[in-house]
Amino acid sequence: MASKVLITRRLPGKAMELLEQHFDLTVNPEDQNLTHEEIVQQIRDMDGLVCMLSDEIDSDVINAGKRLKIIANYAVGYNNISLESATRRRIAVTNTPGVLTETTADLTFGLILCSTRRIVEADKFLREGKFKGWSPSLFLGTDVYGKVLGIIGLGRIGRAVARRARGFNIKVLYYEPVRLSNDIEKQLGVDYSPLDELLKKADIVTLHTPLTPSTFHLIKERELSLMKRSAYLINVARGPIVDESALIRALKSKEIAGCALDVYEFEPEVSKELISLPNTVLVPHIGSASKETRERMAMMVAENVISVLIKDQPPPNLVNHEIYR
Ligand code: GLV
Ligand code: GLV
Repeated sequence: MASKVLITRRLPGKAMELLEQHFDLTVNPEDQNLTHEEIVQQIRDMDGLVCMLSDEIDSDVINAGKRLKIIANYAVGYNNISLESATRRRIAVTNTPGVLTETTADLTFGLILCSTRRIVEADKFLREGKFKGWSPSLFLGTDVYGKVLGIIGLGRIGRAVARRARGFNIKVLYYEPVRLSNDIEKQLGVDYSPLDELLKKADIVTLHTPLTPSTFHLIKERELSLMKRSAYLINVARGPIVDESALIRALKSKEIAGCALDVYEFEPEVSKELISLPNTVLVPHIGSASKETRERMAMMVAENVISVLIKDQPPPNLVNHEIYR
């Protein structure tokens, strides 16, 4: 009998066909998330789970999934899954690293340019019929070319952002808890900086760390107060890395110039205050949202599930390696 797999949202591209060939699938037919309770109910007789970053896969879900062997997250970040509970039950957890790196770095640059050059504000102004002719002072922003970019988290995505910065003649400072080798620094053309120094020197600060207990509220009131008044904050990583109410205070009191966000502390809720401020660019968690990348991510998910449930092998994108030791 085919293994049973629950898919919480229909995936794009050919991956669904591949999964259909191998498994007895239960696919959420709606274009909206399942509730936590629905996942708990539906997981009971499933061998595999394909879930989204917006699904909270906590110990209630994991303990309800008595037959569960794999949780395949359709995302690179996996802070939505209780890794501890899964590992205790020897359930494989997988993610989709690598394929979305460049796509997310592209969006990061888009957000940098949108916020510093006020592109979204200016577009809105024009659509409202307010453009009455060229003006010397219309939508003055700040330059990106030649500025200092502070990258917090120089993993795959942070490095892809650093590579793009070269074309803009940007000086890149990075912070990581453990400094990278001289070779990698040279190759990327980046300089290490302790966090506080980076915050003081950067014209643009961009976040590329996973959300873990040690990065929760990494940027809060103190850190925001170290930033230049002319600086911008970009977050395409995870909302809770930034203390959102401290960010709102800093934006209101002009302690920083602006921010561009793809992720929110209380996602999918976005604070009304963030929305009402003119110096924010806000997009709905679309970092990896290109057609090509989302299809590649879906194929990775399918391959991970097939490895575990059909081939009985460690999946290519295993996160909790200890379960195979
Ligand atoms: C998106 O946020 C991801 O983690 O893939
Ligand atoms: C995620 O892909 C990262 O390592 O930045």
